[in-house]
Amino acid sequence: MNALTPNAAAIPAPVGLLAELTHRCPLRCPYCSNPLDLDRRSRELDTATWQRVLTEAAGLGVLHVHLSGGEPTARNDIVEITETCAKLGLYSNLITSGVGGALSKLQALYDVGLDHVQLSVQGVDAANAEKIGGLKNAQPQKMEFAAKVTELGLPLTLNSVIHRGNIHEVEGFIDLAVKLGAKRLEVAHTQYYGWAYVNRAALMPNKAQVDQSIRIVEAARERLKGQLVIDLVVPDYYAKYPKACAGGWGRKLINVTPQGKVLPCHAAETISHLEFWHVTEHSLGDIWANAPAFTAYRGTDWMQEPCRSCDRREKDWGGCRCQALALAGDAAATDPACSLSPLHAKVRALAVEEAAETPPDYTYRTIGANIPAPRKEDALS
Ligand code: SF4
Ligand code: FES
Repeated sequence: MNALTPNAAAIPAPVGLLAELTHRCPLRCPYCSNPLDLDRRSRELDTATWQRVLTEAAGLGVLHVHLSGGEPTARNDIVEITETCAKLGLYSNLITSGVGGALSKLQALYDVGLDHVQLSVQGVDAANAEKIGGLKNAQPQKMEFAAKVTELGLPLTLNSVIHRGNIHEVEGFIDLAVKLGAKRLEVAHTQYYGWAYVNRAALMPNKAQVDQSIRIVEAARERLKGQLVIDLVVPDYYAKYPKACAGGWGRKLINVTPQGKVLPCHAAETISHLEFWHVTEHSLGDIWANAPAFTAYRGTDWMQEPCRSCDRREKDWGGCRCQALALAGDAAATDPACSLSPLHAKVRALAVEEAAETPPDYTYRTIGANIPAPRKEDALS
């Protein structure tokens, strides 16, 4: 292992660790942010390695650990891993589908100190939700799981990824969050990377639907002040400015994949020229400070115009590198979601066109599906 090197002092400490414990999942959501080439169980890190990674994360200054996947409760050692977080003083957030073994492990997770649960809900109407998630009888399991979370007194966040297949249910998601006693609801319009990029035409809503969903959220925020916090992630393709993806590249977040590759964001592997270091070969501190994938787009030196001279460059950090690669064919380009990008009009036109077409069937997330990644030649430039 290499030690943390001196230039680490100039780099902000990471706040969050996204621990993708496994890519195994009973659901098959067509917007999953996991890579197209999913890790198989045989490649997953063992318990001791995850515990070392968590210890190194705490040492680096990480405060929050998002225990994610896939479905993290598919791992037999999820309770041990959660207990390690508690012992290290790391705030643990279980990001779960609430199906499969999730309910049977919840009490044990609570007993070892789990701090928070984020439950995904694919839809409000059960049939629609189960079509989107690709799993029959998932909805009653989710409702039972949510009831147990609140019965234990654990804070519950509902996460709803919004797209043309459920955008008519935004009001229903809000009512459901209130009914289930959630403290927070994420109304997160689909971000088009990973499987969502492949399914973009099936998922893209139109602008009128997006605007209506925003109005519904804004009214509910007023109505439910003090009862429910609603986070809204607006869809990039209809936005004026992009978001600071992952809080800015290499600034806040470390993402460790099931096999131990360390990424600056969950989709970074789509940028194929980047070199990713592995937790079995380097310490987390060394990776954070020195790994080529982290230094490539950290700060502003790498930026091109119009980002280079833009006064928002340290607010949104040029948007999303993965989206820039997919749409502009260059990961260092201004994110075409930005209205200042020369490609923005094409991106808008693409969204309008896809939203107007009859949606194709979903390509469901599947391990071993062998779906080719988006090609540079398919970029808009
Ligand atoms: Fe952000 Fe770049 Fe757009 Fe400016 S030009 S708003 S820095 S993405
Ligand atoms: Fe990779 Fe946005 S998903 S930078």
